Amino acid sequence: MRRNRPVFASIIATLMLAATPLYAAPASPADNAAYAALVPAYVLVNADRREGVSLSGPWHYSVDPYRDGQADFLGRPFKVSQTRGADINVEQASRDNPNALYEYDLGRAPLADIPGSWIGYDPQLRYYNGLMWYQKRFDAPAADGKRIFLRFGAADYRATVYLNGQVIGEHEGGFTPFAFDVTDKLRAKDNNLVVAVDSTRTPDTIPPTVTDWETYGGITRDVTLVTTPQTYIDDDFIRLTKDGRIAADVALEGADKADQAVEVSVPALKLMLKGTTGADGRVSLSAKAPAGLKRWSPDTPTLYDVRVTAGADSLSDRIGFRTIEVKGSQIILNGKPLFLRGISLHEEEFGPDPSRRITPEASRALLTEIKTGLHGNFVRLAHYPHSEVTTRMADELGLLVWSEIPVYWSANFTRPETLQAAQKMIAENILRDRNRAAVVIWSVGNETPISDARNHFLGTLAQEAHDLDGSRLISAALNTATSNGPNDISIKDPLAAYLDVIGINTYNGWYGNGTLEDVRKTVWHSDYDKPMIFSEFGAGAKYGYHDPAQQHRFSEDYQASYYKATLEMADHIPFLAGMSPWILKDFRSPRRQNTWQQGWNRKGLLSETGQRKQAFFVLGDYYQKKAGEK
Ligand code: GCU
Repeated sequence: MRRNRPVFASIIATLMLAATPLYAAPASPADNAAYAALVPAYVLVNADRREGVSLSGPWHYSVDPYRDGQADFLGRPFKVSQTRGADINVEQASRDNPNALYEYDLGRAPLADIPGSWIGYDPQLRYYNGLMWYQKRFDAPAADGKRIFLRFGAADYRATVYLNGQVIGEHEGGFTPFAFDVTDKLRAKDNNLVVAVDSTRTPDTIPPTVTDWETYGGITRDVTLVTTPQTYIDDDFIRLTKDGRIAADVALEGADKADQAVEVSVPALKLMLKGTTGADGRVSLSAKAPAGLKRWSPDTPTLYDVRVTAGADSLSDRIGFRTIEVKGSQIILNGKPLFLRGISLHEEEFGPDPSRRITPEASRALLTEIKTGLHGNFVRLAHYPHSEVTTRMADELGLLVWSEIPVYWSANFTRPETLQAAQKMIAENILRDRNRAAVVIWSVGNETPISDARNHFLGTLAQEAHDLDGSRLISAALNTATSNGPNDISIKDPLAAYLDVIGINTYNGWYGNGTLEDVRKTVWHSDYDKPMIFSEFGAGAKYGYHDPAQQHRFSEDYQASYYKATLEMADHIPFLAGMSPWILKDFRSPRRQNTWQQGWNRKGLLSETGQRKQAFFVLGDYYQKKAGEK
């Protein structure tokens, strides 16, 4: 996974990929040369636990719907003075030259608490989508010969980063981390960091323009100055292999990355792996897992302190060891088949006006409702990579995770740049989270219409996910099951052949005019000897609206009846290995504007403030029985 390759080489690499016949022999996971142009310049694995200085907190923000901060009124490049990313203190400049005219002043713009979407800064920004300028001034930490990286947990959707008036880089994608080496770009005092975040979606972005969830534009996850030694541990992948070994792939970055001694220790297991990096700064180590290893599982979410040292650098992480595989139509965790008792979840905190502030407390509140409230063991983090706060919380609480990138509905499957953007997202997601035992499924998309272009697009992503991480299952949520006639459905989708687990979204009894009696009687067929999970089913209900007689849609009574009928149907599907019904809680969706919804998708089993609807108890009771707890 090398970086900074010349652009030409990356174009070749992409064309090579594009030309690669679908599912040729996977590139060796150890040498992802084919993906060199797609993996992030800096992985900074475990960055959230590394030494660093937080830049989260108050930032100035300045809205710019007509992009006046990027070009003049005729669209021409500005002279430096009007570019909002310029290294100017407008207040000082205006004092120095009272005749100077500035149409903006970031230094005296309103303040917002970062991370969090601009939806939460001001009611006027409720439906704003476009360009927002952020500014933070800070003194540099003492470098002491170290490297300093500026790392963003996420910014939705596209970010351009200016440091002291210079563009230091850009990032596309609203849900994965990105970092820039700023070691030689910082000044001791008063660094002027300006970030232009553009939330605009187009038919070519991932996700495309139309989705069924709120666009939470802005700097939505933590911003940190991460310090490392000159040569540091940029990436490691530490896991239990199917043949019972603890394996560690370690990649160093920096001038002294070659021939460097590396140690990976798990003190509680008295395990020490040692080796020396090659010329490329990488080394792969492994040893038979000690007999005393307690495997991670939802029932026993055991995490071990793992320390990786190399030269002057050392990292400490908390890692669970488990295996996940499929066998016929079963999902096998640590050698035993299990049923995924799950629910889907958008990245939104409980509350009447969420702004995607996912603190550990917010994440724990959501996941505890799944684990304890529903007796669940699984969560589908829809439809995009959620915060690392949440994947670490799943590690801690013991919830298996389906992690997904937002290749959603009518993405542009024919555009190579769109495919490259999706490939970068999946690489950034995998390289961030592949040490999280909870994550067991990488999903490459949701409800994408079948076409040759779509099959190639998602097949390429599935291949890449498999190549970057052969230890997990690859899936996608499909809504392409076909009806053979009344109440008789078959799974038919060319993409299913390339997935380890087939995700199926089904809404009979909610969308369309099928009755709940039809739902009960529906039988499913699959020609694939693979596990299927219901990645979605659901019905809307406004909390507190009851209609026991009429069972009107959007009543709690109908939602509960829908769940009972769908669960009855599910019980008759022999190749069903789990489910993640749609969805834990009501969530913001501008597409949902009828009387009962008013801007919320109300398929939640909980209201947006966490009030439990009748259906919550229907599913919870079903899962308790599934778990053998009653
Ligand atoms: C779709 C889609 C979800 C959407 C849901 C719904 O299947 O995957 O993003 O919110 O159905 O209609 O509520």
